[in-house]
Amino acid sequence: MSRRRQIYEGKAKILYEGPEPGTIIQYFKDDATAFNAEKKGTISGKGVINNRVSEHIFSQLTHIGIPSHFIRRLNMREQLVKQVEIVPIEVIVRNVAAGSLSKRVGIEEGTPLPHTLLEYCYKDDALGDPLVAEEHIACFGWATQEEMQDISSMAIRINDFMAGMFAGIGIRLVDFKLEFGRLFDGDFSRIILADEISPDGCRLWDLETNEKLDKDRFRRDLGGEAEAYQEVARRMGLLPEGGLSEVLDLDSERKKRGK
Ligand SMILES: Nc1ncnc2c1ncn2[C@@H]1O[C@H](COP(=O)(O)OP(=O)(O)O)[C@@H](O)[C@H]1O
Ligand SMILES: [Mg+2]
Repeated sequence: MSRRRQIYEGKAKILYEGPEPGTIIQYFKDDATAFNAEKKGTISGKGVINNRVSEHIFSQLTHIGIPSHFIRRLNMREQLVKQVEIVPIEVIVRNVAAGSLSKRVGIEEGTPLPHTLLEYCYKDDALGDPLVAEEHIACFGWATQEEMQDISSMAIRINDFMAGMFAGIGIRLVDFKLEFGRLFDGDFSRIILADEISPDGCRLWDLETNEKLDKDRFRRDLGGEAEAYQEVARRMGLLPEGGLSEVLDLDSERKKRGK
């Protein structure tokens, strides 16, 4: 296969130029980082699972009218998406207190929130993605008020859908992160959902045991992170009968061939 032009290498994915103008290919790596990349490692098979999980969720969201960058999955680790101008805001949707919220306001992890809470972080690795208010977003022109309206209403609808979907497979959707982008059409642009939705950016707890099935296993050195990601995919009906081993064998074969 001819070498494609690499546009960007991030912490979890590599972006390549797509086959047509306005498209890019997202390649999902097994690399895992936490605490603003202070902690680094790999979670075996994570890229394959995140590619599938994200494909599934984005496709389902299309059915409920959430526009997204997703076009189609190309292979185990790659998907074709529409290129957007990323809005430099990470949207955190919270249903239950955990992580940085618990620390910041001293609320015990696991406390259900009286209603869904949206938080915004300015996407800047050098600054450690600081929490910002909507006033900052408007003041510094990171997004317009109209764009923030689209973003917040989509975030709430995405949460409603995802919370129900996960509850159906015995998982509590504690919180998750979203990224949005601008899709240009001449002089106009509209906001669409971008990036990925996977156990990397979600807190997913088993409904009965509260066992963590997400990247917190890696962040907090709990172990069993690869198994947790597989468990999420299995419950979503995305793992083949024989588990991930066959898929991963094929994957390492491909890697050896430099594909
Ligand atoms: N459709 C898209 N068009 C352009 N950029 C995108 C799109 N979807 C996601 N991105 C960006 O691509 C990068 C994905 O790689 P990732 O490893 O997650 O990077 P990071 O380390 O910045 O989080 C992110 O910076 C994300 O904002
Ligand atoms: Mg990212």
